[in-house]
Amino acid sequence: MDINRYSPKFKLKQTNLLRLADLTAEEIFEILYAAKSFKKKFRVGENTPILKNKTIALLFGNASTRTRVSFEMGIRQLGGDYLFLPKNETQLSRGESIKDTAVMLGRYGISAIVLRAFNEEQLAQFASFSEIPVINGISEESHPLQVLSDLFTIWENKGRLDNLKIAYIGDGNNVANSLSMGCTTVNMDIAIASPHGYSPAKSIVERGMQYSNVLITDDIAEAVRGADVVYTDVFISMSDEDDERKRAKLARYRVTQEVMQYAKEDAVFMHCMPAHRGEEVSAEVLDGPQSIVYTQAENRLHINKAVLALLVS
Ligand code: CP
Repeated sequence: MDINRYSPKFKLKQTNLLRLADLTAEEIFEILYAAKSFKKKFRVGENTPILKNKTIALLFGNASTRTRVSFEMGIRQLGGDYLFLPKNETQLSRGESIKDTAVMLGRYGISAIVLRAFNEEQLAQFASFSEIPVINGISEESHPLQVLSDLFTIWENKGRLDNLKIAYIGDGNNVANSLSMGCTTVNMDIAIASPHGYSPAKSIVERGMQYSNVLITDDIAEAVRGADVVYTDVFISMSDEDDERKRAKLARYRVTQEVMQYAKEDAVFMHCMPAHRGEEVSAEVLDGPQSIVYTQAENRLHINKAVLALLVS
């Protein structure tokens, strides 16, 4: 389905946003159209107070710049309030159950909760006990808000989504998983180049293959050839132990100008950030003319507003 032929209704059937596999192409388009509308308003300094008298809890288990700031600023701009809860300062860090936390937080007038650095089982459990919407702000296996923002950025930049090709180079981590889910759902082809043993999970790859073309390879040139978008992420994610073996295996999976040459001439470079210049990407590419990483990061703000507007009534 072509996003440009879709007529948004600005409604979502979902009550939570846990993973992109739960969303249809139409539901992804709803979020992207809402983000487009919020970005337009942001540009002219217009803010709609749709979160007036509402408080969103941000229960974060690890460090964050983009996710935290884009939520805090987005909620403020929509006239709402937020409660930042570092997980290690809550009783969760001392063994309180997910059930007790989820049920209890719903009793204080909070309108939605963003969970960061939980695993998939904990997220599902939290959502099953929560009477308010639960949003995944990054988990062990997925990063749905990041990839919604990435799809929005690609749509802005390329004017469409379907039949584009994205090449992801590096660790088959939570971002790679969500990219595979999100891109294939909207009919983009994806090629993932990772060293043996670091590809995304088989179940995720097989799901993507039902919707679009998915190539898993250890050959960077094969993955990038003809790509419209080249994407990478850090070699060692926050949930990983600093693993020298992994770092060594990934070392040749760096996106350099030479790698970008395999892509289309008008290809763009994306990175969900934080980035390490000289490790997963050269400074020349990250800071070069094909890089759209700062727009990608800015769009987290507009996507968060869209998701909150659609989930919090
Ligand atoms: N991309 C991303 O999630 O950024 P932060 O870790 O800074 O939130």
